[in-house]
Amino acid sequence: MTDQPDDKNSFYITTPIYYVSGQPHIGSSYTNIASDVLARYHRFRGESVVFATGTDEHGQKVARGAAEAGKSPQDFADALVGDYKRAWDRLHVKYTRFIRTTEQQHVHVVQDIFAQLLSQDDIYLSEYTGWYCVPCETYLLEADLLDGSCPECGRPVEQVSERAYFFRTSNYADDLIRHIEDNEQFIAPESRRNEVLAFIRNGLQDACISRARTDWDIPVPDDDTQSIYVWLDALANYLTVAGFATDDEQFAAVWPPDVQLMGKDILIRFHGTLWPAVLMALDLPLPRCLFAHGWWNDGTGQKMSKSKGNVIDPFEVIDRLVEYSGVRTKFAVDTLRYYLLREVPFGADGSFSTAGLLQRFNADLANDLGNLLNRTLPLVERYLGGRVPAPGPGAGGLAEDITQTVEEVRTCLDEVNFRDALMAIWELIARCNKFIDQREPWTLHKQGKRVELDAVLYDMLDAIRVIAILIDPFMPEVAEEIWQQLGLSDAALQRTWDDLRPQRLQPAIAIHRGAPIFPRMDLDRALAKLANIETPPQDDDSPEDAQQVTGDEESGDEPGTISFADFQGLDLRTGRILEATRIPGTDKLLVLQVDIGEEQPRQVVAGLAARFNPRQLLGRTVVLVANLEPATIHGTESNGMILAAGEKEPLALITTDDDVEPGEKVR
Ligand code: MSP
Repeated sequence: MTDQPDDKNSFYITTPIYYVSGQPHIGSSYTNIASDVLARYHRFRGESVVFATGTDEHGQKVARGAAEAGKSPQDFADALVGDYKRAWDRLHVKYTRFIRTTEQQHVHVVQDIFAQLLSQDDIYLSEYTGWYCVPCETYLLEADLLDGSCPECGRPVEQVSERAYFFRTSNYADDLIRHIEDNEQFIAPESRRNEVLAFIRNGLQDACISRARTDWDIPVPDDDTQSIYVWLDALANYLTVAGFATDDEQFAAVWPPDVQLMGKDILIRFHGTLWPAVLMALDLPLPRCLFAHGWWNDGTGQKMSKSKGNVIDPFEVIDRLVEYSGVRTKFAVDTLRYYLLREVPFGADGSFSTAGLLQRFNADLANDLGNLLNRTLPLVERYLGGRVPAPGPGAGGLAEDITQTVEEVRTCLDEVNFRDALMAIWELIARCNKFIDQREPWTLHKQGKRVELDAVLYDMLDAIRVIAILIDPFMPEVAEEIWQQLGLSDAALQRTWDDLRPQRLQPAIAIHRGAPIFPRMDLDRALAKLANIETPPQDDDSPEDAQQVTGDEESGDEPGTISFADFQGLDLRTGRILEATRIPGTDKLLVLQVDIGEEQPRQVVAGLAARFNPRQLLGRTVVLVANLEPATIHGTESNGMILAAGEKEPLALITTDDDVEPGEKVR
């Protein structure tokens, strides 16, 4: 085996390629999101990144799936490939190469490899007698079976007895053990490394790598009785992507993979043994790190899998979060990315829970990160005319925290430790929230201490800038939004890892505070909805749908007549809308501040959000029922009602056809 080169300036990362036998789910999304985080991180570090994912399209599992769907394997695969690509795009997974094992280039690479290994006697022809698990596409010996079934998935196995080619894995057992022992990073986490070592020490069998000829798999070259085993075909995808046997220059620049991510189920027999043994036989450097993550269970302790039918669709989870919180979809996607990597250590199993995700949304995102922005930016607007101040002599109060966090995040990501990286970033966020409490910029403003005020707000903005860069690999759309709100997109500044030093924020940039990125939701209500339980009506809490503008639930009766005196009793007035914000956790409600000519604006809760964007309402003159009994709607006090046309849904606001002052009587 050639020595490992360490002078390449590329970063090559791979995901497993997915069987085109079902839709992408939380489990497959997990690997691709994790890989995407590493790819983005290495791009930030200035490396040229090759990030490959794709589809595993041969094998009996796919052929049978196609037959069941009444389609040809190619049509069946083509349809699912589109679903996979769309899913990765929607999850912000920015791969650079999507490989399909049905590509001609790949078919040639696989046949080349087979021919080379055969010619050098690493492959020989013999007889296979044993068992085969189609869902796992795995050959098994009698001794491997667990109660007569597949030890991995527990499903029935099929008996096979046929002529087949074998790869001499056993010849490489000693070299493999040595390599694993000498290279601590080669297989991670450590527990998995030990499992692979134990598996090899227990006696590595030669691997069956062909089967009786099929119409669908890659044919063995020069032997029309045999097709190549789907796992040899699949593993070779990592070589095809790098340009093996087709583009020597590219191959030299890219090989070997820096990180290969996979689930723990496909480490021991495949990525941890067969794969490196084949590479050794081809005299190629081995990947630098094979990282096997744990499984996401479905919440009942069962591994989520397509064939068990218990998979969780990531897009359903995202839709739920959008529905319950009002968060924009792209930020909900980033929330899922955050949750998956924050919830369990990479390597351990996790139990997926939408409720857990909603809780993290409120606590970590709406509260911790959201508060940081929602507290800082308005102060900059209010006290500093919305521009980044000059740091001044007192600045740098968060510099040490920033430097330390950046170091921690770098170390964690180099070790493929997403959870601790996120925890380190959130510690910095907590530190910043504490800093603003301790330094009290509002008091500094009152006391006219401008130099100190500038220093505190500069430090806060600079820390937010660093946080935006640090979270970018995990939550790219959220990072972009923060960047915009800081005014840095307008200033044409890119986020780069080099800018992570404190006090790099340029003064005088105009910030652009936007709507809160993470509207806090009413968690109890959301959890109740999630559990499909009606929220019990509360005394002071009118249900959202029954709010004042659209009237109560239909009684079925037409309203009767009222006396002129009754009508006179109505205090109708013109009002100008000064502020409008969504009530988190609701779909329809806005809280408005309306100038009706009184000393203080009236606060009114209105069911207008489904029809109007809050910003559209600002400055509009509306008609308000000013003497309606005050009510608390969704925990928010409401003093009046805004008139709108539309029986069930507000269709149009009742406004005046000419400018009138707020507070004018309407008769
Ligand atoms: N086609 C092979 C891989 C070939 S790579 C050269 C394969 N495909 S798969 O579609 O069945 O699984 C792909 C990956 O998804 C595996 O890493 C597997 O561990 C992962 N996951 C499938 N279900 C999962 C969970 N419930 N949780 C986490 N990962 C899971 O195997």
